[in-house]
Amino acid sequence: MNSFEVNKVISSIIFVILVIIGINKLADVIYKVKAPEGNTYKVATETKKISKDDNAKAEGVGNIKVLLALGSIDHGKIVFKKCAACHSVSKGGSNKIGPALWGVIGRKAGSIGDFKYSKAMSEFGKSWDFEAMNTFLIKPKDYVKGTKMAYAGLKKGKDRASIILYLNEQGDYPLPLP
Ligand code: HEC
Repeated sequence: MNSFEVNKVISSIIFVILVIIGINKLADVIYKVKAPEGNTYKVATETKKISKDDNAKAEGVGNIKVLLALGSIDHGKIVFKKCAACHSVSKGGSNKIGPALWGVIGRKAGSIGDFKYSKAMSEFGKSWDFEAMNTFLIKPKDYVKGTKMAYAGLKKGKDRASIILYLNEQGDYPLPLP
C-alpha cells in the first residue's frame, strides 16, 4: 500500500465515524424535542400506578371484579399450559393425574365420580366459584389443607384472573361475571 492508499483508507474510516456521530446527534435532537412533552409521560406513569395498585388489591381474595379485569380468556389458554400436564379441560376429557376440568367453575369441589380425590378435597364441601378458585390457585395447599394437587400456585393476579376466565368458558354453563 502506498501512502496515497493509506490516506484513502484513513479518510474513509474518519468519514464513517463522522456519519455515526452525526446519526447519534440527530437522534439526540429528535429525543430532546420529544422529551419535554410532559403530559404523555405523566399519563403513562399514572396508568402504570393505577394498574399496580389494582394488582396489589386483587392479589388476595380482595375484589374479585378488579382481579378478573386484569385477565383475558386468550391469556388464560396460555397459562393453562401449566396445568395441562395433569388436567384435561376439553369437553368429555378424561381424568389424568388430576380430575377433568371441563365445567369446573360452578361445580362442587371433589365431585367427579370416577376420580380418586384426597380426603381433604372430597370433604372440602365448597363449590368452585370465582373467589374460591382464586384463593385455591394462589396456594392450593393453604386453601385445601391436605390436597394432593402438587402445584405451588399462581403468584400473579393476572395469571389467576386469566385462567379463571378461561376455565369459566370451558363448560356448558359459564357463570355470569361479577
Ligand atoms: C402436578 C399435577 C397438577 C398440576 C400441575 C395441576 N393440578 Fe390441579 N389437581 C391435581 C390433583 C392430583 C388434584 C386432586 C386434588 C385432591 O384430590 O386433593 C387437582 C385438583 C384440582 C382442582 C379441583 C377440581 C375438583 O374437581 O374439585 C382444580 C380446580 C385444579 N386442580 C385446578 C388446577 C389448575 C387451574 C392448575 C394450573 C394452574 C392445576 N390444577 C395444576 C394435579 C395437578
